[in-house]
Amino acid sequence: MPADDIKQFIREIPKAELHMHLDSVPPELLLRSARRNNVELPFSDVEGAIEWYRFNDLEEFLQKWMVTTSVLVTETDYYEVALELGRDMQQQNIIRREVMFTYAAAHEGRVELDTMMKGLARGRRQVKEEFGLDLYFIADIDRTISPERSLKYVDEIAAYKDEVGILGIGLDCQEIGYPAGVHRDAFARARELGFYLSAHCGEEYAAGPEGVWDAVNDLNVDRIDHGNQAIRDNELINHIVENDIPMTLCPISNVSINVYESIADHPVIELRNRGATVTVNSDDPPFFQADLNDNYMQLVETFNLGVDDITQLVRNSFTCSYATDEEKTAYLAALDDWCRVVNPG
Ligand code: ADE
Ligand code: ZN
Repeated sequence: MPADDIKQFIREIPKAELHMHLDSVPPELLLRSARRNNVELPFSDVEGAIEWYRFNDLEEFLQKWMVTTSVLVTETDYYEVALELGRDMQQQNIIRREVMFTYAAAHEGRVELDTMMKGLARGRRQVKEEFGLDLYFIADIDRTISPERSLKYVDEIAAYKDEVGILGIGLDCQEIGYPAGVHRDAFARARELGFYLSAHCGEEYAAGPEGVWDAVNDLNVDRIDHGNQAIRDNELINHIVENDIPMTLCPISNVSINVYESIADHPVIELRNRGATVTVNSDDPPFFQADLNDNYMQLVETFNLGVDDITQLVRNSFTCSYATDEEKTAYLAALDDWCRVVNPG
């Protein structure tokens, strides 16, 4: 298929995204909130933002990530962030999105949890009404907080579970020096409360396959966020395959924060070929100037993927989601219908 046709195929195929961060707000929206709230950003226009978004590693990325959210203060700010996620879903044909937010890292101290939750709940309802799309959330725990704090946070967030559509508890931020097992009580409590569980792990080289083992063994996660370093451990790959633990991989993100030199070095396709259930995701699109469709397109160009490969990856995005069985059946039927129209016979 010619490159333009593949591009169109990727853009139009109905898909889900399971790993992106709400706290990665598009610069246009940040600038608007900054003006409204009289707060300064380290850039004054979109070009300045793009210039500022350069990272040597995860640590530098996380520092800048937290600076940008400093302009979000009111319920309206969060409403607009959620609504923008919906607009972007419509543009990329993402019919379901499970979006992470990290209250302790990026918002606490500036905004009451209740203010943020009310804004997100309103935005999410509007996304359904205006675009007919399914927006859900995952409440990530910043790894660097204390286990007492993370346990308390799980109970606090549970109060908003249904109203805000929070399906899971996750773990993110700096991994090196902050082992996942510290938060085992928070994750056990989250399980009791009916949340699904995931964790960012095995992202940077220094985190290694051990970071993934920790998340799998100590937190009993349902999904692995990143986990790309698993490629260095055959026993771990076998464990992931045998236990069918889905991986939410983010190829362009990993290249942007210098985990890999190029997409060609990324293990997403090798992990797939070894039997892991992998999904493709964007992580922090405004920071990398690359959305979900760009991630698919770069995989196509680098690994010479065809429409069957893309369709299988998209299928995984639905089957690995936290949707109910009935919802998954409906999403897959929509996908199959679309494929039949595009490729009759
Ligand atoms: N928060 C946002 N993006 C992240 C990443 N790639 N790793 C860890 N925490 C994050
Ligand atoms: Zn992430």
